[in-house]
Amino acid sequence: MLSFAHGSPRHVVTVFSDAEGRFRSPDLAGASPWSLRVRKPLWRDARREGLDLLAQGERRVDVVLEPETDPVAITAQLPANRWFSLVLDRVPDAAKREELVRQCTYCHQQGSLHTRVQRGHENWEKVLSLMARMGGMLGPELRAELPSLFDEAYEPKVAVPKLMARLGEAGFVPEAAPEVRSAIIEEWEMGAVASMQHDVAVHADGSLWSVDQLQDRLSRLDPNVPGGAIEVYEVPKGDLPIGGFTGGRAVLPPNANAHVGPHSLQMAPDGTVWLTLSFGNQIAGFDPRTKRWEIHPLDEGFYPHTLRFDRGGRIWFSVAVSNHIGMLDRASGRVRTFRLPAASWQQGLLLRALPAFFWIARHVDLGDPPAGEGIDLPVPYGIDVAPDGGIWFSQLNLHRIGRIDPETFEIELVDTPFEGPRRLRFDSKGRLWIPGFSSNTLARFDPGTRRFETWSLPTAPAGTETPYALHVDHRDDSVWICGTASDSLLHFDPATQRFTTIPLPTRVTFTREIDFDSQGRVWTSNSNLPTWQVEGAYPRVIRVDWRAPEKIASRAIR
Ligand code: HEC
Repeated sequence: MLSFAHGSPRHVVTVFSDAEGRFRSPDLAGASPWSLRVRKPLWRDARREGLDLLAQGERRVDVVLEPETDPVAITAQLPANRWFSLVLDRVPDAAKREELVRQCTYCHQQGSLHTRVQRGHENWEKVLSLMARMGGMLGPELRAELPSLFDEAYEPKVAVPKLMARLGEAGFVPEAAPEVRSAIIEEWEMGAVASMQHDVAVHADGSLWSVDQLQDRLSRLDPNVPGGAIEVYEVPKGDLPIGGFTGGRAVLPPNANAHVGPHSLQMAPDGTVWLTLSFGNQIAGFDPRTKRWEIHPLDEGFYPHTLRFDRGGRIWFSVAVSNHIGMLDRASGRVRTFRLPAASWQQGLLLRALPAFFWIARHVDLGDPPAGEGIDLPVPYGIDVAPDGGIWFSQLNLHRIGRIDPETFEIELVDTPFEGPRRLRFDSKGRLWIPGFSSNTLARFDPGTRRFETWSLPTAPAGTETPYALHVDHRDDSVWICGTASDSLLHFDPATQRFTTIPLPTRVTFTREIDFDSQGRVWTSNSNLPTWQVEGAYPRVIRVDWRAPEKIASRAIR
């Protein structure tokens, strides 16, 4: 993998070499100098600085790699899921393993350099209590086992030989398959270490938009300007405090400035950009031409989450904390919310008590929040509109999907035969594709027959992938899936039933959303929270041009 970087904020262009180590760079437009990092599994990174690639005589770059012989350094090259599997192997109970994955891997990877640290019981207690206050809640039994589980699994004297024993195994370190070696991967740094670029969406004008949930910002990247041109817009906060509706009770990273917390975004057919404001309990529209905002508050419900347009231009969105689905009719400006069924009457009661709870939290100092144990809310998550107009959603923690009728608002529910249905999407024929976040699963649901088909994701070691989101390319109905645990994107071709893995260049690349541009290039962002765990400590938006050989400039750099 050869990564050419330049400029500030950094723009990084990555290509793969062929089996003989030869490579061709794409056209590297933009300011010099460039730096080059050459990375090959089981070899040491090589770096060159100050390359003036446009200058005469610099068109050929030779790089000599040295093999890595130190087992500690070799295992440090592995993606986080390899390390985390050492922990999962020590949890024999399948339900506990699933809970651990579902609750501990939705903000950041587990097993990355910063998380695979032995800390001792007391420090693990502190970490676990902070994580619980942020939302990573575990049942008391599992929680009590975790400190020694982590410390034993990550003991280097045990972990390194264990990992090295699998050195010869296929996929030990993910490498690009021959059919994706012509891919060009571009990354643009966006925001800073205190940012969290949650979701991205491609605009019809070719620009890429991203929301920074922790800094209340909306950004636009023009990738056609050499190096990329980024514009940043502040999302209106009104008079909301940090943490918005939680009244300061949201436990956020110390450098967060999230009053409204933009979470997701979609483009309207008229070119306006629409956002869910998770802490603001609002839906916001931004007009790129006039730079004006319009804000629509929810009348009930907490944490508007993922949104989609129906064909009539109405916006449907999941409301994650309070278990609602919402709908904004842009024509009338009216927001409606629909309460979804809970798992039990106790859960239903708890959900109905949330408004009182947050009201009290805003008006009374409740002291330190409780360490929160085992509160499993349903969490409506992904949402998409079927070709027949039906609104489908998932309830992440209840392994359930459901449909709201767009006219009668009648709700029906379907249990999924796998855990953790997250961000789902329809293909062009009306079949619903669903990632099973905590079950290493890709699923297809046929609303006509009510049948599910499932596939295990190919990431090695088996069972360790946490697919956060997927998207279906309607041109061929192939499926792109976030390799959220393994720094990769996965492609699935339903016709051949084949998976292809595209390794991404930056360690700790935590992906949450996928979109396509008009040329079929795949966009996503690295939104590991916290950003400082990411290699390089900056969030990036990412574009994968995975069938690019024709486009590579004919001049070769070797
Ligand atoms: C809601 C988001 C979220 C969830 C869920 C979450 N974490 Fe974290 N985690 C964070 C953030 C943010 C930080 C950085 C905290 C800081 O810098 O103060 C972090 C840091 C960590 C660290 C590094 C701490 C350090 O001192 O370097 C570990 C280890 C960790 N988390 C483990 C876990 C475990 C285990 C779980 C499941 C119980 C979990 N996380 C769930 C957000 C989360």
